[in-house]
Amino acid sequence: MSLHPPYEHPDWYDLHDTAWTAGSEREPEHYRETMLALPPLDHADHLVDVGAGTGKLAALIARSYPNLGRLTLIEPNAVKLARAETRLRELVPHARIESLPASLGEGQDLPASVGDYVTVGSVFMPTMLLRGETLADGLAWTRRGLADVLALLKPGGWLYAIETLAIAWEGGPLDGPVRRLQMREWLAELTSAGFEQVEVVYRFRDRVSVRGQRPFRRG
Ligand SMILES: C[S@@+](CC[C@H](N)C(=O)[O-])C[C@H]1O[C@@H](n2cnc3c(N)ncnc32)[C@H](O)[C@@H]1O
Repeated sequence: MSLHPPYEHPDWYDLHDTAWTAGSEREPEHYRETMLALPPLDHADHLVDVGAGTGKLAALIARSYPNLGRLTLIEPNAVKLARAETRLRELVPHARIESLPASLGEGQDLPASVGDYVTVGSVFMPTMLLRGETLADGLAWTRRGLADVLALLKPGGWLYAIETLAIAWEGGPLDGPVRRLQMREWLAELTSAGFEQVEVVYRFRDRVSVRGQRPFRRG
């Protein structure tokens, strides 16, 4: 077995050089597969979509489960949040819908133990990058954000998260510039945040959908 990182191997390099990223054209597939991985949602269910943006992921889910009982949209950008709320009110007029202009990982007061499901669509990696600083700073924010997500969930509730992770050769130390996490780093963060039953529900190269459950009881 080669001792070198795989990208030092000329054949591996030629195979993977421009072929690693999932590509924007495959994004709808990842959102759809994440929605398909959900259990059926109905009147009794409360979905919380965090970093909701203009409501793309929440809308996809709402279109599929029009009897959804309750939906909370959390998003720091007030204009996007208003767009998401308008969109979702049209799709699920009978649902109880609340909008919260708030951010993960900033010590803000977020509702506790409310969500049967929390969805997070492409929020952790891009926000880490946009915040800049070092990987250690990015990880510190991610950990605060994941703690917020865990607290939003009811005991036994599930997180479904889509992220575009680091490509295979993208590494870097804790004191280096912030970067996307590798798959094993992302799964380790979810597990150390306290999620159980962490599993990948869909993956194509660097884009990955995972789920994890808030334990019924703190152990
Ligand atoms: C790439 S967009 C994804 C939006 C939506 N989830 C989707 O899939 O279309 C990332 C979103 O995260 C929001 N965001 C930025 N910082 C955040 C934070 N600290 N907590 C939650 N959301 C944040 C941004 O405003 C933006 O709408």
